[in-house]
Amino acid sequence: MDGLFSPVKLGAIALANRIVMAPMTRDRAGPGDAPTPLMAEYYAQRASAGMIVTEGVQPSPAGKGYWRTPGIHSQAQIEGWRQVADAVHARGGRIVMQLMHCGRVVVPANRGFEADIIAPSALPCPVKVPGPDGTPVAPAMPRALALAELPGLLEEYAQAARNAIAAGLDGVELHCASGYLINQFLNPASNQRQDAYGGSAENRIRFPVEVLAALAGAIGADRVGFRISPGNPYNGMDVSAPEATFVPFLRAADKLGLAYLHIVDMALPELDTLAMARANFNGPVITNNNLTAESARQLLDDGKAEAVSFGRAFIANPDLAERLRDNAPLAKPDFSLLYTGEERGYTDYPPR
Ligand SMILES: Cc1cc2nc3c(=O)[nH]c(=O)nc-3n(C[C@H](O)[C@H](O)[C@H](O)COP(=O)(O)O)c2cc1C
Repeated sequence: MDGLFSPVKLGAIALANRIVMAPMTRDRAGPGDAPTPLMAEYYAQRASAGMIVTEGVQPSPAGKGYWRTPGIHSQAQIEGWRQVADAVHARGGRIVMQLMHCGRVVVPANRGFEADIIAPSALPCPVKVPGPDGTPVAPAMPRALALAELPGLLEEYAQAARNAIAAGLDGVELHCASGYLINQFLNPASNQRQDAYGGSAENRIRFPVEVLAALAGAIGADRVGFRISPGNPYNGMDVSAPEATFVPFLRAADKLGLAYLHIVDMALPELDTLAMARANFNGPVITNNNLTAESARQLLDDGKAEAVSFGRAFIANPDLAERLRDNAPLAKPDFSLLYTGEERGYTDYPPR
């Protein structure tokens, strides 16, 4: 029996196999940051994955940091996502939406409208981010969120989750990785607040846990997952002692009875991230990062995770699940076409 191809349940979401498509920003949203028929085609082509996690989706205008990323805060966006979800479901797939609020990782020219740039503290992202033409530019200076604004932000997330369900998606995944807003709260390099939301690990995990609770309250905990990347320096995160933050975060999240934990395993020499997850979180685990068919099967066989996710391999292999099943060769993507906003390099990779 091929361990990749047994069914599994992540909370309320039933997967036909254990191969998950990892979230990938592809910059193809249409006017008003709404998903297009092209996006529906792209995701439908990949529906033989046990589950698709969408590209990062902004829960509000202020959550947008990159060029042509989709949102889930307007009626047009809900309609666009309904086409995507329907197309994936028609092919028997499952699809959850990654909620990604960029926080301070914002190039204003990428937005096409005026909106706040917010973060836990008024500290700019120290690394450059691609602008509309792909050239890296320094992100703008954020303003620190006022304490009184946090309940409104929680409600934005909750409404985004309700909108995702209204559009027919199977659940949501909170992006707590890669230096975006939730990670900015978790990390001492970006969170230097003096109130109950900054300082100690207990305080830095407070807002992330409140967001997870708000999402669970909005759509049910068994349709809410979350993604972490302990020890990832991306977008200016401090990588020292990740377990000091992530052990209490996982323990608090565990109490919510969530659908799953998605780990970007940085293969840290000083920390066995999957073991840390198992010791502190009782729900199903999806693991990710540089996996091959062989290493993925091994992780499942060893009981280290319930599912595995692949990112780059899905770009040029819409039928990745079948190729892994048959040990078929994988096509190589053209990375120069990742973010061009068009069909080429997106929906024109054929199945075998
Ligand atoms: C083009 C591209 C876009 C990505 N966008 C996101 C994203 O929106 N959200 C996220 O959590 N990770 C994102 N990632 C990271 C992937 O989900 C994944 O963690 C990474 O590619 C490692 O997995 P792999 O070795 O199977 O490719 C992106 C990766 C790529 C290559």
